[in-house]
Amino acid sequence: MGNAATVDTELGRAVTDGSEILKSRNLTIDDIKRLRDLEGATRDIMQKYQAAMRQMEVRFEILDQSLNAQQNRNPIHHIESRLKKPASIFEKLQRYGKQTTIEDMEAYIMDIAGIRVICSYVNDVYKLLDLVKRQDDLAVITVKDYIDEPKPNGYRSLHIIVKVPVYFLDKKEEVPVEVQFRTIAMDFWASLEHDLKYKAVRTIEGIDSYDELKDCSHIIEDVEARMQILATALEAEE
Ligand code: GTP
Ligand code: MG
Repeated sequence: MGNAATVDTELGRAVTDGSEILKSRNLTIDDIKRLRDLEGATRDIMQKYQAAMRQMEVRFEILDQSLNAQQNRNPIHHIESRLKKPASIFEKLQRYGKQTTIEDMEAYIMDIAGIRVICSYVNDVYKLLDLVKRQDDLAVITVKDYIDEPKPNGYRSLHIIVKVPVYFLDKKEEVPVEVQFRTIAMDFWASLEHDLKYKAVRTIEGIDSYDELKDCSHIIEDVEARMQILATALEAEE
């Protein structure tokens, strides 16, 4: 088999195991080798991130149950989780101008383990943030509040990086997990925007899709604020 065919097969595998992101990049043979090395080296380490991610999910499940007992409704609508694929980690390290090594991965990639907590109302997001901050074995190291200050395109959510202790036979490690809090309405917008932004055409029949999405985000924010006022008023009546 010639060199080119080998590279094609390997690249094909890298892309199918990984993110679509790499498809659009011109990977050199050296890049592909480095990606393979990173994939091999991450296999064991991923278990640690998986453990940290599960712990955070369980903590949110417990908070949801406790709040349900207190206020008779569930603040959390549902939880999603994912581990970042080696191909996406590789792409991000390159984008950050870092080495594609385990050391740089652990030092710079804070969203290897990611969970998304989808809440009913905006107040639930802040309530959960507060409760997480109060768990004294967790360390909230960054908070990005895109609800208070939405991204220019209209994206809204609250992102935090939290370090979770994971115990091994002979040591304890603080493992970062990215938590994205958002409401059902914010999730609705972000999911559709995510699909639409990969479609090439930006203006169609005189409608600019960027402006249109941004406008939709404002409408959703308004509806959500009204629903929040209603919920708060009805809860106060109980
Ligand atoms: P990344 O390199 O993309 O991880 O950026 P970052 O580390 O600066 O984090 P950021 O706060 O921008 O959040 C990244 C994550 O939030 C993404 O992986 C998405 O899940 C989500 N996100 C951020 N911006 C958008 C957006 O405009 N649209 C959608 N649909 N999701 C977004
Ligand atoms: Mg990120």
